[in-house]
Amino acid sequence: MTRIYLDNNASTPMAPEVFEAMLPWLHENYGNASSVHWFGQRATAAVEGARRRVASLIGATPHEIIFTSGGTEADNLAILGMSEARKAIGRHLIVSSIEHPAVLSACRALESRGFDITYLGVDREGLIHPDELRAAIRPDTILISVMLANNETGVIQPVEEIVEVARALQVPVHTDAVQAVGKIPVDVKSLSADLLSLSAHKIHGPQGMGALYVRKGVGLTPRMLGGNQERKRRAGTESVAAAVGLGRAAELARQGVLSESPHIASLRDRFEHEILSRCPRSRVNGHRQLRVGNTTNLGFEDVDGEALLLALDMEGVAASMGAACSSGSLEPSHVLKAMGVRKEILRGSLRFSLSKFNTEEEIDRAAEIVCRTVEHIRSVPEKVAKQGTAPAVLE
Ligand SMILES: Cc1ncc(COP(=O)(O)O)c(C=O)c1O
Repeated sequence: MTRIYLDNNASTPMAPEVFEAMLPWLHENYGNASSVHWFGQRATAAVEGARRRVASLIGATPHEIIFTSGGTEADNLAILGMSEARKAIGRHLIVSSIEHPAVLSACRALESRGFDITYLGVDREGLIHPDELRAAIRPDTILISVMLANNETGVIQPVEEIVEVARALQVPVHTDAVQAVGKIPVDVKSLSADLLSLSAHKIHGPQGMGALYVRKGVGLTPRMLGGNQERKRRAGTESVAAAVGLGRAAELARQGVLSESPHIASLRDRFEHEILSRCPRSRVNGHRQLRVGNTTNLGFEDVDGEALLLALDMEGVAASMGAACSSGSLEPSHVLKAMGVRKEILRGSLRFSLSKFNTEEEIDRAAEIVCRTVEHIRSVPEKVAKQGTAPAVLE
């Protein structure tokens, strides 16, 4: 069976150019980037080259980039590091209720330490309203964190407007851009955000690598303590190979973001159109225009999403449900719940996310499999489908 991978928001296949760039740093070159000798200096040069490439992708300067172990650590560092640095000013943060668990869990940890968090709601299309944000800001608000693109729906938040509101009241803004970078042009100067998270494995780079942009002049308390790496903002020996991989992935993303995105979006639209026209009682969750071009979140009425996900996997189509990329769990999505998606749709909603490596042929085949599988699940009693016998019935 040739499998079709439509779960690129969970992780993307590594680009061959990234793999090539990383290889020498996995065996031939083994210096520690903090060492003063020749081996160390070569490693430093490689890490700094990668930093320049990442900075260039988002319009930052290299000194503003802190390498981390991924998007989760970047988010944690932003939320916890800013709270610690600013706790004398206040103990109130504002985040959206549709953030990734990397942000939400950090906020829960802060709550247990006496911080107060306001969780901003979203409308039916998954958008935050800057007016609601304005009303939530208090004299003791020390940070606002709103993601640029949502991982489940792809909906793009009005971060520029949010920053404008926050700036007027002198509150710094962090944005989790893990699902936006590489899909839409992201420029920290036009966004004006103070902190921004990104992750390598969402842009065809290696897993376990990411970065936090911290605007020059913004004070942040480090979370990882030890050596003086990353200008004392994140201790620990840098993974040179992973940094090089992120650097190459960033370079490819910068070159491809405008040229490749329209093609990916046209494949996504084709997939959506096929399903919506052939599959009754199906719908798209989230704003249809204000979203990244690779993502569609589709809701199927009277279908158990878990059964559908498993049946699709048996048929060779990889999709995802809820925030499965972070938890491996099949909990109903907190994002769709916040959007007020009806229960009958909520439980039957799946995310399909494409990349530049998907083909038209794959998309057509996947759409056909999805429609056939949905139809089949609707035709069998739910108990049978839930017992995991659905895949067998499908044969
Ligand atoms: C929006 C968002 N933020 C943060 C993360 C976490 O990134 P990482 O997997 O690199 O830790 C993810 C990953 O799914 C994500 O989608």
